This record gives sequence, structure tokens and C-alpha cells, in this order.
Amino acid sequence: MNHLNHVAIIMDGNGRWGLKHKNSRNAGHKAGLKSVDAIIRESVKNKIKYLTLFAFSTENWKRPKKEINYLFNLLEIFLKDKINALNKQNIKLKIIGIKNFSSRLNKLLVKCENKTKKNKQLQINLALNYGSKSELLNAFKKFRKSKKKLNEENFQNYLQTKDIPDPDILIRTGNTQRLSNFLLWQIAYSEIFFEKKLWPDFNKKDYNRIIKKFKSIKRNFGNV
Ligand code: IPE
Ligand code: IPE
Ligand code: MG
Repeated sequence: MNHLNHVAIIMDGNGRWGLKHKNSRNAGHKAGLKSVDAIIRESVKNKIKYLTLFAFSTENWKRPKKEINYLFNLLEIFLKDKINALNKQNIKLKIIGIKNFSSRLNKLLVKCENKTKKNKQLQINLALNYGSKSELLNAFKKFRKSKKKLNEENFQNYLQTKDIPDPDILIRTGNTQRLSNFLLWQIAYSEIFFEKKLWPDFNKKDYNRIIKKFKSIKRNFGNV
């Protein structure tokens, strides 16, 4: 049986859910938070050590300003509301991506990271303003200056996911089969699950079904 250490999720389908149920994309973003709560809870129950959630990509800045503002406002409320409870559950929050938001949000993110940095139960990597190509380019630039020997191990130290093992599972909800510039290096050997359900409809039963399936997969890593 495979050991499950790290799950990464592309939480897609909020906009479509919102339009379908409430005639508003933003309502879908709000509804998606319930799934976030449920998946964090189930991750702890399943003793998963790393949960990486794609919340905002470097490409998502192309969206209408109103939607972007709504998303970051929601994030702020979510963090203020939950950070103490997460901390009490021994959960660590880490942001991957470039923190170039309002100074208020940047400060809040750093505060949440600092408050929870010693926690050990589960590490949540929240991917915010994250893009894999930009992460790789920045890593190459820094690596070049280091004059170190180029190998996988040395290079990985320059990624934002330094010290985080690669995901065992990648889940994308929302009935779309693409990676959208997420963790391209890190998912080289992840088991990928494309889910039809939109993110706000994705629940603990769906999650546990994937976990169960993962445990029984024969992972070869090139071997036989
Ligand atoms: C994913 O849901 C959440 C973010 C990108 C912030 P979408 O907003 O992409 O939802 P759809 O794909 O348009 O339904
Ligand atoms: C990927 O979803 C990003 C997040 C879930 C945060 P998108 O909805 O932005 O992806 P594309 O643009 O449809 O590929
Ligand atoms: Mg989408």
C-alpha cells in the first residue's frame, strides 16, 4: 500500500458553480471555501503531512478587477477567521508564489506564516500568485549565481517548494484536464486525478475515494 504524504489540488470550477446556482461567479468562490474546510479536516484525519492548494495563478490577473478584488477580500476574511483554529490544530501555513499584494494582505500572510511556522500536524501550502514557469525561471537565475554543481538535488533548493516533498497525488476538479502552470517540476511522478465535479461540490467522500484508489496503485518510478 502506498504511503500518502502530500496532496496537491487545483481547486477549479468555482465560477461555473456560482453561475449555475446563484447567477454569480463570486458566489461560487465563497461556496468553494466549504470544500477547503472539508478537505483540510479530511487531510488531518488521513494523517497527510502536506496539502498544496492552488488558489490564484500568475495568469489569474487577467480576470476582471471586480472578481480579483472579491477573491482577495475573501482570502483575507478566511485567514482572519481561521488562523487561530488552524494554529490550535497544529497546522502550518506556508504561501508559495510571489507576495506582491496590498501591503495589508502581504502583512497578514506573513503574520499567519510566522504564527504557525512551528506546527507539525499538517503543512498547508497555499499557492497564491503562483506560476510554475516563473518559479522555474527564478530558480534558474538564482542557481546560476550560486555557481553550484547543477543536479536535481541542488536545483530543487531554489524552488519555492524547497524542503517540501513532491506531491504523491494531484487532483484537479472542474472537469478540465490541464495543468494550468501548476507545479510542473514537482508533479513529475504524481498520480493525477481529474475530477468532473466543480470544486464547491467536491466533498470528503470524493476525497476519500481518491485516497483509497491512490493507496492501491502500483507506482513504478521507472522500475518494473
Ligand atoms: C477556480 O475556479 C478558482 C480560481 C481560479 C480563483 P474558477 O474561478 O476558475 O472557476 P471556473 O473554472 O471559471 O468555473
Ligand atoms: C487554475 O484554474 C488556477 C486555480 C485553480 C487557482 P484556472 O481556471 O485559472 O485555469 P485555466 O485558465 O482554465 O486553465
Ligand atoms: Mg477555472
